[in-house]
Amino acid sequence: MRQKIVAANWKLNKTLSEGLDLVNFLQSKVNEHDDVIKIICPTFPLLYPIKEILDSSKKFYLGAQNCSAYERGAYTGEVSASILKSVGCEYVIIGHSERRKMFGETEEVLFQKLNLALQNQLKVIYCVGEELDQRKEKLHFNVVKSQLDNLLKLSNEQLQNVIIAYEPVWAIGTGVNATPKQAQEMHAYIREIVATKDADIANAIPILYGGSCNAMNAGQLFQQKDIDGGLIGSASLKGEEFLQIIYAAS
Ligand code: 13P
Repeated sequence: MRQKIVAANWKLNKTLSEGLDLVNFLQSKVNEHDDVIKIICPTFPLLYPIKEILDSSKKFYLGAQNCSAYERGAYTGEVSASILKSVGCEYVIIGHSERRKMFGETEEVLFQKLNLALQNQLKVIYCVGEELDQRKEKLHFNVVKSQLDNLLKLSNEQLQNVIIAYEPVWAIGTGVNATPKQAQEMHAYIREIVATKDADIANAIPILYGGSCNAMNAGQLFQQKDIDGGLIGSASLKGEEFLQIIYAAS
């Protein structure tokens, strides 16, 4: 049985006081005995202050939304995996479509980030997903397969610290989620691709769904055999709604 995971990607939202309020609210409401791993991914400056208020019994963990492809040195504005680790971060999102698209992150850059994150004992939430025109042209399986190449280059040991997030670009921030059937179909395919490397890892690797996942649709999505939880954007910014999504996973 794979444990369910619900991760909040706050993107470029929440000031320090708003972020602390939201985390305090969530921690006051979640059930200590649920078995859901909950990850909060705020902006960089909020990582450490949030770390300081995390109550480990509530199974909330801290994740960053990005890390540098460089280890250290003269790279103004960058934040390395080792610095993230040093402030208490345990996860990092790599390969989000917004970074691929708006910040020009190539497969090569993503591979460097992956390696540095894993070397620094961060768990990686690695995002894949096709654009709308690619789905319309029935290229979605091919696109996702090629995005998984970086993961297949990792060692089995490294791969055990990876979570995959399937986020179809057409579903992100649009209010149009993939149907449970569409998502399940892709998740099963992703598991098949990972199985070409190692069957046991394929069976164990968590695969999250992301893209307009909300309190209304989370239950049905999370019930699918190969969907192990969600990577949530806008619905993670509202305390009550994010709680409902956590409950849907538990
Ligand atoms: P939304 O939930 O806002 O569609 O965003 C999904 C996402 O990009 C999470 O990483």
